[in-house]
Amino acid sequence: MCIEYVDRSHSDCVKYDAIRARYGDDVLPAWIADMDVKVCSSILEAFRKRIEHGVFGYTFRSNEYYEAIARWYGKKHGFSVEKSWIIDGPGVMPMMALLINVLTEPGDEVVIQPPVYPPFFNVVKRNRRRIVENRLKRVDGRYVMDLEDLERTLASRKIKLIILSNPHNPVGRAWAYEELKELAQLCSKYGTIVISDEIHADIVYEPFQFTTMLKTNFENVIVLNSAGKSFNVPGLTNGYGIVPNEKFRRLYIEALEAFELTTPNIFGALALQVAYTECEEWLRALLERLHQNRDFAYNFTRENMPLIDVPLPEATFLMWLDCSNLGLENPQKFFLEKARVYLNSGADFGEPKGVRLNFACCPENLEKILTSLKRAYDLVT
Ligand SMILES: Cc1ncc(COP(=O)(O)O)c(C=O)c1O
Repeated sequence: MCIEYVDRSHSDCVKYDAIRARYGDDVLPAWIADMDVKVCSSILEAFRKRIEHGVFGYTFRSNEYYEAIARWYGKKHGFSVEKSWIIDGPGVMPMMALLINVLTEPGDEVVIQPPVYPPFFNVVKRNRRRIVENRLKRVDGRYVMDLEDLERTLASRKIKLIILSNPHNPVGRAWAYEELKELAQLCSKYGTIVISDEIHADIVYEPFQFTTMLKTNFENVIVLNSAGKSFNVPGLTNGYGIVPNEKFRRLYIEALEAFELTTPNIFGALALQVAYTECEEWLRALLERLHQNRDFAYNFTRENMPLIDVPLPEATFLMWLDCSNLGLENPQKFFLEKARVYLNSGADFGEPKGVRLNFACCPENLEKILTSLKRAYDLVT
């Protein structure tokens, strides 16, 4: 099975074109979370057929579409999903925004676990809710949830909702069952709902494993997911949720209807259905390549930039670089100016001394990116 890296310049892509238009053609972008790989040929073939048909009228998600999702969670993630639990939407983040609106009131507090995916901050604040941070802590080189802090928070305030990144972007943890179970027990005790964003679920490196929050059997769990990350189709804007709780489902669907967001994009829905039925082998091949990139990026950083504190990405194609020891005011700006590498700024994740690197690019570019970072690193160490 062939994984093909593609030159994405001049395709109106945010990763390269938007950044180079702003900062110059010599910049090496290693930021936003999409990949430089061509999608599985089965998806392209299905698209070609659909394009040949030549009519792109209003569409709906078929029974096979929902079966594909239920089968995927059953077969890959070991949890049996009823088709009636599945909700639709234009992507994980818009679905999360709607859920925040129906499950909480303006002014309510919502827990997130920084350093974490920047839109988690935005979606809470822009919907006029307040953020309560339950920051991850570092134990033996690994980021873990601070469940004692979480219990203190839940016990002392009225928290209706916690948003979980599972696996965690940017620190790359594939949360273990025991950690999720403990979280579920706390949330059950204090009446808190969990939104488990599982968009990175399929990108996990052995020996680590993904565990869906559904496995805790906590009744107030809402899972959100999409084929966007695993199959490199986030620009097709399609998402889904798995919601065993009938009341949450009803509230969500009412909101989706109120905002007239029920009609899917033909290609987004088609990509998911084909991905989940025909592209498992492609995903396996992709994971092998990403695993090699992960090892290269991790080992290179540890060997050549030892003052940067880097947790091993157990999952995701993203690597978190804690640059606290470098004494830099703004590591993202520094690496842009001195290495000409564009990374995500840790400030957006709630940790200004960090940066996030995307290693889902061709190995030659990855090497260029890392050697450029190393040259800049040498200037300050
Ligand atoms: C944790 C997480 N959730 C959600 C998204 C975006 O999902 P969508 O494009 O479906 O809104 C991303 C993209 O990087 C992500 O990393």
